[in-house]
Formats: sequence, C-alpha cells, structure tokens
Amino acid sequence: MCGIVGYVGAKDCSEVLVSALSKLEYRGYDSAGIAVFEDGKIRIEKEKGRLLDLQKKMESDGVPKGNVGVGHTRWATHGVPSSVNSHPHRGGDKVTLVHNGIIENYKELKEQLIAQGRVFISETDTEVVAQLMDMNYEGDPEKAIAKTLAQVEGSFALGILFADRPEELYAVRRESPLIVGVAEGESFIASDVPAIIKYTTQYYLLEHDEIAKLTHEGVSFCDLEGNSIEKELKVADWDQEAAEKGGYEHYMLKEIHEQPTAVKTTLTPRISDGMPNLEECSITLDKLKDINQIYIVACGTAMHAGMVGKYVIEKQCKVPVIVDIASEFRYRDPLIKEGDLVIIISQSGETADSLAAMRLAKKMGAKTLAIVNAKGSSIAREADMLIYTHAGPEIAVASTKAYMVQISVMYLLAFELAFAKGEITKEECRRLTDILLGTSANIEKTIELVDGDCNTIAEALTEADSLLYIGRGLDYALSMEGSLKLKEISYIHSEAYAAGELKHGTISLITEGMPVIAVATQNALYDKTVSNIKEVKARGAKVILVCDEQAEVGADVADFIIRVPRIEEMLMPMLAAVPLQLLAYYASVRRGNDVDKPRNLAKSVTVE
Ligand code: G6P
Repeated sequence: MCGIVGYVGAKDCSEVLVSALSKLEYRGYDSAGIAVFEDGKIRIEKEKGRLLDLQKKMESDGVPKGNVGVGHTRWATHGVPSSVNSHPHRGGDKVTLVHNGIIENYKELKEQLIAQGRVFISETDTEVVAQLMDMNYEGDPEKAIAKTLAQVEGSFALGILFADRPEELYAVRRESPLIVGVAEGESFIASDVPAIIKYTTQYYLLEHDEIAKLTHEGVSFCDLEGNSIEKELKVADWDQEAAEKGGYEHYMLKEIHEQPTAVKTTLTPRISDGMPNLEECSITLDKLKDINQIYIVACGTAMHAGMVGKYVIEKQCKVPVIVDIASEFRYRDPLIKEGDLVIIISQSGETADSLAAMRLAKKMGAKTLAIVNAKGSSIAREADMLIYTHAGPEIAVASTKAYMVQISVMYLLAFELAFAKGEITKEECRRLTDILLGTSANIEKTIELVDGDCNTIAEALTEADSLLYIGRGLDYALSMEGSLKLKEISYIHSEAYAAGELKHGTISLITEGMPVIAVATQNALYDKTVSNIKEVKARGAKVILVCDEQAEVGADVADFIIRVPRIEEMLMPMLAAVPLQLLAYYASVRRGNDVDKPRNLAKSVTVE
C-alpha cells in the first residue's frame, strides 16, 4: 500500500503535493515522487527513501513549477525500494500515473505488452497499468481508463496525467481508498482526508470504478460507461491541529496523551441515562439478545483489542467468542452460521484482509459489525452495523489511541450484550458503564504516574536481544499488544506468553539478565502469576512488574515495579496498557529509532 495525492489549482503544485504526501507517509515510506506539468510537459522527480530525501534531491534539481500534478509515497510490494521502482511511472509518451494497491494479473499483462513491443524499466505492477493505459489512449481519457480497468484485476487507486491534457488530472479507484477534495478554485485527490485537511475539509468519496476529472473549472465524476454521476459532498470533522504533532517529540507520544480524550469522545455519545446505547449504530437490545456466537476478526493491534473483547464478552455475557486473524479467517473455511455476529475491528477501515474477511462473513449469512476509526472507509461503508471510534487521526504507525478506543468499545458492547442477555442487572450495567467512562480520567492519571518510571526502566530493555511478556487472562491478552508494540518500534524481539504455559517449553529461553515484563492486575490470578514470576526470577530474569497501586509485592518478586491506579479488575487493561506503550516508546527513542515510522512497516495495509 502506498499514499497518492494530486492537485489542480493556482498554488505551487509541488509544494501542495509534498505537504499532502508528508501526511501520508504512514502508508509507506520506501520512496517518494511527484509529477508536475511544467511548461506544458510532465516533469517527474522521484527518489528512494523518505519524502525528505526527495525534497533534498529537488533542492539540487530544482523544484518542478506548475499547477497540475500527482504525488506518491511507496510501501514496496512489487520490486525493491529503488529510484526506478518509485512512482510516478510513465507508460510511454502519453500517460504518467501514481498507483496504490496491487494489480493481480500484472504478469500476464506484462507478457502481452512485451510481445507487443513494449519495453519496461521497472519491476512494478504499476508500470504495467501505465503502459496499458498508454496503449489504450486515443485522445479520450475516460475511454482509456474504462478500457484499462476492464483488463486489470486487483485493488488500486490511480492518479493519472495525460501528456496532451496539461490542465487536467484524472483519478479512479477499485478497492483501494481515494477521496477528491474541493476548495475555491482548486481540487485535490488523496488516499485519505488528513492529507489535504490543511487546504480543505470538503471532499467526495470516490466509489469503486468511478472516474474523477479535476480541472481548474471544478470536479466531475462519471462511471466506466461515461454516464455522469452526482455525488454527495462530505465535510471532515478532523482539524489540522489534530493531525499535527502539537509540541510532542513524536506522534506516538502525542497519541498516547490523547487517549483520555479519545476514550471520552468515543464513549460519551453511546451512553444515555447511564446505560450503553448503541442505537445510532443500528445495535439494539433485541438484536443483541439473539446472538449465540461471536467472531472477532482483525489484524495486528486491532486483533489484540479483539482478544481483550473475547475475555470480557465470554465472562460477562456467556457468549462464546472466537478471535481470528483476518488473513487466516478468510482462507480457513470458517464455520460461520447464519445469525452469528462477526465483529471487524480496524483503525483504518481499509485493511485488505479485514475487508475481505468481512465480505466473506456477509456472504455466509453472518451479521457484521465494524468498529472503525476512519470515517467513510471501505469497512465502515460495507458493514451491517457500525461503531465509529473517535480517536481522531492516528499518524504514528504503532497504534496506541486507536487500540485504547477499540477496547473501550469492546467493554461497552460487552456490558450492553450482558444486559440484553439478562446476565447482569440494569444497576450492574450502569455501575460498570460509569467506571468505564471514568477510565478516561484514570488513563490521564496513569500517564502522569508512570511516564517517568517507564522512561527510566526502558534503559533496562535497550540492550536486550529478546524478552518476554507474561500474564494470565486479561493480562495475557494485554501482553500480546505490549509485545507487539515493543517489536514494532524498538526492533527488540519479544514474545507474549500465557504465564502458566511458560514451564511447558519457553522457560528454557530464560538466561541471566533477560528482561521479563510481567503484567499482574487480575486479583484472582495474582498469586498464580507471582509464582510464575518467581520461576523466571530463579533462572536469572530481570523482572519488570506492572501491577496496581494496592498490590502487595514481596521483596524478591521484581526488579522494577510499575504501579497503575486500581479500578474495577476487568477494566484494568485500559490502564495497564499505558506503561506498556510508554516502555516501548522510550525503548525505541533510546535506541535512536524512527519511532513514528518504524522500518518495513506501514500503517494502512491495503494489500493481502
Ligand atoms: C498494520 C499496522 C498495525 C495495525 C494493522 C491493522 O499492520 O501497522 O498497527 O494494527 O495494520 O490495521 P487496521 O487499520 O485494520 O486497524
């Protein structure tokens, strides 16, 4: 997946494209490039590496001057990150384009094109579309686009320049996201809204196989048959400040600090008269009553939020929950029955595997409920029921606030479901909902309490080659996310293990000085976890214990103790998540890594 942008207007096009791309680097940062009509001719500037590398190159080459152009930031799929594989790609003399997504039949198409005498310079699937479009272009852009789309398979969003139309920009998408922004006398294309929020909050959501034409006169849309389409203008409620660092050294740290607000903003509109109320999300008590089986399907951090959901829902609602990794779910013939509820959790709402899993579930007769942060995203649009999380834009690749709001929604849903099923009384439901809402203030308190300690203790992690996270029950579910966070941004190998399972093999890894982060916030399991901690301690582990402020910790249990406020046991992951995020953050900073853009990763994964 990659980020694409485009601009038509009176401003300096290169400046707009670079600014918009800087907001899309979370989608990939292996290379960047722009193509701008300069004196009627398309000039391409592209470079391997970050956007900054492109900017440096343009400082010496000279920045293209013009008012119409496209830009791209890449996460390599076909072909290594290199200058030649960078976008934009030329298809010949007539077409230059940028692409996000994957062309599945690119090999066959490439062979056919080579047989027709076409010469390729890159290894990308994108160049195949560019060449094909170039072959298909006979002076009518819409016809060329439609003809090309009839030949390509896969997911894609394209921003296209035709060499003989220097005042026009075309865009089309299938599966991959694309929006068209508009302002007075100018228009934009972008992979998502934050990219252009500096310039406008008004935008159109391009649907599958719709073509957008952007000119100085305005924007128009048509389908692949050329029929014009009227579209609804949307207004984004994310402001520019929300997408900037606001004084923090990294987006990740800023986003950790935004968690109290994000939780409050997500929960408050879904609570009325002290009770969960998800009617605006098309979820009613009647619908919930009939649910007998739940699947939670997601990827990465969102899947870990699902793990917390499983423990809570099974315990509170007595409904079995299966948590599935989306890429496994879609190919393992899941045993879904009509009437099952399939919950898809996704920050971006565009993750290819999660989207495909949701479509499969729908096809099999399940009801789908999406928990999504990005407004208007594909998963949000296609789900039967939808709960938007209101975390605002999350820029750091490592997810923090999106996870926090995802688990807050898991709790709210569990409480409402438990009440609908008659598993808890109205009073109990109100009590729990009240404590849930109160986590917002408690998260704030936790950040203040643990920030300094986490910074200091992270020092003990920086030299480690490998470490373990252990916990039981909800603490285990949370440990999975803690471990992922550390891996993603500090590049230290770690594994989350159910504390009781360690002795069945993994304990053999413990050597003198190896850090073990133990999470022990669940009263009923506390003593058992402490026994497991002692087992690793006896074998030389350096133990960092995360527990609540009231826990009685024996002198020989831990080398470091991080205490968080004590609240309802079940809700402790919402507080204990904070030190795990901060430990990973400070470990990454101390190792001198690029915290917000860790190597090899991308925030939104729109490929399988
Ligand atoms: C990528 C990101 C992860 C994220 C996962 C799922 O791998 O790097 O941070 O958890 O995708 O993304 P989603 O947008 O579906 O939550």
